[in-house]
Amino acid sequence: MSDKTRAGHRTYPAVPPGSAAAADEAEAGEFLDLLYAELPGQPHTLMERLRQVRAEIRDTGTYTHTADELTFGARVAWRNSSRCIGRLYWNSLRVLDRRDATTPQAVHAHLCEHLRQATNTGRIRPTISVFAPDTPRRAGPRMWNDQLIRYAGYPREDGRVTGDPGYAGFTDVVRRLGWQAPGGPFDVLPLVIDTPDDKPQLFDVPRELVLEVELTHPEHSWFADLGLRWYAVPAITNMRLRIGGIDYPLAPFNGWYMGTEIGARNLVDTERYNLLPVIAERLGLDTRSESTLWRDRALVEINVAVLHSFTVAGVRISDHHTESRRFLTHIAKEERQGRTVPADWSWIVPPVSGGITPVFHRYYDQADLRPNFYLDEDARARGRGKCPYPH
Ligand code: ARG
Repeated sequence: MSDKTRAGHRTYPAVPPGSAAAADEAEAGEFLDLLYAELPGQPHTLMERLRQVRAEIRDTGTYTHTADELTFGARVAWRNSSRCIGRLYWNSLRVLDRRDATTPQAVHAHLCEHLRQATNTGRIRPTISVFAPDTPRRAGPRMWNDQLIRYAGYPREDGRVTGDPGYAGFTDVVRRLGWQAPGGPFDVLPLVIDTPDDKPQLFDVPRELVLEVELTHPEHSWFADLGLRWYAVPAITNMRLRIGGIDYPLAPFNGWYMGTEIGARNLVDTERYNLLPVIAERLGLDTRSESTLWRDRALVEINVAVLHSFTVAGVRISDHHTESRRFLTHIAKEERQGRTVPADWSWIVPPVSGGITPVFHRYYDQADLRPNFYLDEDARARGRGKCPYPH
């Protein structure tokens, strides 16, 4: 491979040029205030820890979170994620401290272990792996993927796409990096791991670590013949975790799926698998007029199939009615602790049957509280195959 990796018509530098800014001392202070207020029994007093952290930032431009700080910080980042409906269990997030991994091989091994522990043969466990932070001396590792598991998309001669059209751009990027594409409708994409000392490197996700569910319908036997499937663990890899003024650019995290993410978006969006016309035809619906509500009827049946298939396969998933109720329980619980729950209505309300879930009928606080997860434009651009750095 040449020293510059070709992707599209541009070249990728490895991690961002230059160095990260020093850790934000004020934000470190706010974070420690929060931790000492919520977690009793720390080995130091707040004053002692603040003094240590300030001295460390002045000497080195950064500071090192203790294991407790990392765990609490990651959990609160989830608690503050305003787009997530599934936050009731924020305090039981499993936090894997992977800050010592430096090589792409070591990162890959930890990502595989993440998948193994998170999948837990179907009893999905919300898990995060936290890799090294950006510091003034050294950038942390990054990934170009947006999730650990995604399906490739291949444009065809007829202008349509085999696989997931939402990933055709990323598929092109990994092919240019040397990936041998099988060309099927559900090919798991390889991982691209980018560390400061190495060129971006490709790794396959070992087959045995990818739990998938074949989709069937409880009443329509033809549904199985469509050959549809989805993977069990949604694990986001392109969001930066910010805790106490420190940025962790690689901190992949997962929960379990809510059925509508698959049955109303991934398989249904016109820019994704776009399956409503296919399902409607099999259902024998009249698609000549919108007012027959053929789209809505097909949509419900896909969602029935997703929930049914995961459940019979023993893979944890939840429906949007249950998850909506849990979210209101979460808000009530947080409010009893004197905390507000920042939430984004347009993300919280499910994409089907919004008005018959209780989360529809109210407004939410919109604060940007830290710790939190952030989706940076450069991370987004890497996934689209665009060069994020002008040069
Ligand atoms: N909506 C994304 C997908 O369909 C996953 C986002 C995270 N979802 C979750 N249940 N934790 O792949």
